[in-house]
Amino acid sequence: MRTQTTVISEAQLQQQFAFCDHIRAYWHERDTVPKAYVETYGCQQNEADSEKLRGYLSMSGYTIISEAEGADVVVMNTCAIREHAEQRVFGNLGALTHTKRRHPAQKIFLCGCMAGETKVSDRIKKSYPFVDGVFSTHHLWQFPEILWNVLSRGKRQFYVEDEAGSIAEGIPQMRDNTLKAWVSIMYGCNNFCTYCIVPYVRGRERSRKKADILAECRDLIAKGCREITLLGQNVNSYGKDLEENVDFSDLLAEIAALEGDFLIRFMTSHPRDAGKKLFDTMAASPKIAKQLHLPFQSGSSRVLKAMNRHYDREKYLELVNYAKTVMPDLVLTSDVIVGFPGETEEEFEETISLIRQVHYDSLFTFIFSPRTGTPAASMDDPTPKEEKSRRFDRLCAVQNSISEEIHRGYVGKTMRCLVDGRDKDLLTARTEGGRLVRFIGEDGLIGSYQNVTVTGATTWSLTGELAES
Ligand code: SAH
Ligand code: SF4
Ligand code: F3S
Repeated sequence: MRTQTTVISEAQLQQQFAFCDHIRAYWHERDTVPKAYVETYGCQQNEADSEKLRGYLSMSGYTIISEAEGADVVVMNTCAIREHAEQRVFGNLGALTHTKRRHPAQKIFLCGCMAGETKVSDRIKKSYPFVDGVFSTHHLWQFPEILWNVLSRGKRQFYVEDEAGSIAEGIPQMRDNTLKAWVSIMYGCNNFCTYCIVPYVRGRERSRKKADILAECRDLIAKGCREITLLGQNVNSYGKDLEENVDFSDLLAEIAALEGDFLIRFMTSHPRDAGKKLFDTMAASPKIAKQLHLPFQSGSSRVLKAMNRHYDREKYLELVNYAKTVMPDLVLTSDVIVGFPGETEEEFEETISLIRQVHYDSLFTFIFSPRTGTPAASMDDPTPKEEKSRRFDRLCAVQNSISEEIHRGYVGKTMRCLVDGRDKDLLTARTEGGRLVRFIGEDGLIGSYQNVTVTGATTWSLTGELAES
């Protein structure tokens, strides 16, 4: 595995833009306005990457459509986090044989995290001949070149070499939403949690320069963006690889000091590098949402050690207690894995007790899925599947009742919310903590902050009414 981060130069990017021009001319000669479809799986990092893929496609003359049928280009931006995620992609890829049969000129690409696995690119090469190109996340910046090579040479393209990763500034982005935006502040991960494939498919941790991030945020705010979510696999280690002396809390404070009416969110925080400075910075600024996603994975210190998480139950609880003390209204969410190899019934009980103790607003719950090449995939795993499912159901039941209880506690409260859209006859809005509230109102309110009084609650969402202002 290479360890050097590649910084993509201005000249290299200009070359890619030249490929976009070639593609545009190719379609112009054929008197066609081409169509493209990008399907995104996985986390926000992939959502952010898809905005770049669409940016390049639009620069190359493509109209973006919302289905594969009739598209001249289909890009599957994939996720490798669990077996199930991969099976879904292979299933949907199979279905594309039919759309391609109806439109034989259709070009199909697979990218994202699965493309970083040799076993996947080999399988595509051998058994999926209708896929025209595969490129890993490290090669996303070369998408125009890859697409042009397929169009002009009619040959399949595989850009999947193992690399430490690259940083490319200036790739055009076609954002899904003008009100809310993702801003990647770093790429990759160095943590190598023993169950996780991300460091293998997304390469080493690399931070964008502070000035580049601030410029992007300033631009977004000027264009009317009201919510910026900073993205990274472990935002708390932001800056460690930079020459300038800056950490994540410093970055947060500088973004929060920008002029304008907006909120900053971020994910994901690794408990290993989270600390008082971060929570104090959050507490001090009204522009930083009082929302924290702090994955704990397991309530057992023995399991946490086997996961290579670098904190134990006590350290985690200490962190959460401090965060709650300085931010009494904090909305806290987390990730948890059930059935890590060797997890005993007692250790599972420790996870349940931690959930009860912390009282999360909501949880993302997963059953351990062995990923080829990670250390946990070859650990002894004597617990039967049925037992893991039983634990999983129990955990979900415990969390659901906590979520419901917390949600009921909102009833009667009036909260400032960003109205972000419509769902049938109700407007949708997000509280500062990121909770969804639906209420009756006019479309003209979309894009503004409004005070909403909560009148009803379920496990998953809130309903309310516009408060008198
Ligand atoms: N970087 C983030 C998490 C990214 S992956 C962090 O460290 O917090 C999102 C979640 O998927 C993880 O928090 C973990 O709970 C889950 N996950 C990752 N690998 C998994 C695996 N092999 N099996 C089951 N769940 C997994
Ligand atoms: Fe995976 Fe751990 Fe990195 Fe998160 S911190 S992406 S769980 S290796
Ligand atoms: Fe999946 Fe890659 Fe995100 S594996 S969860 S899309 S970083």
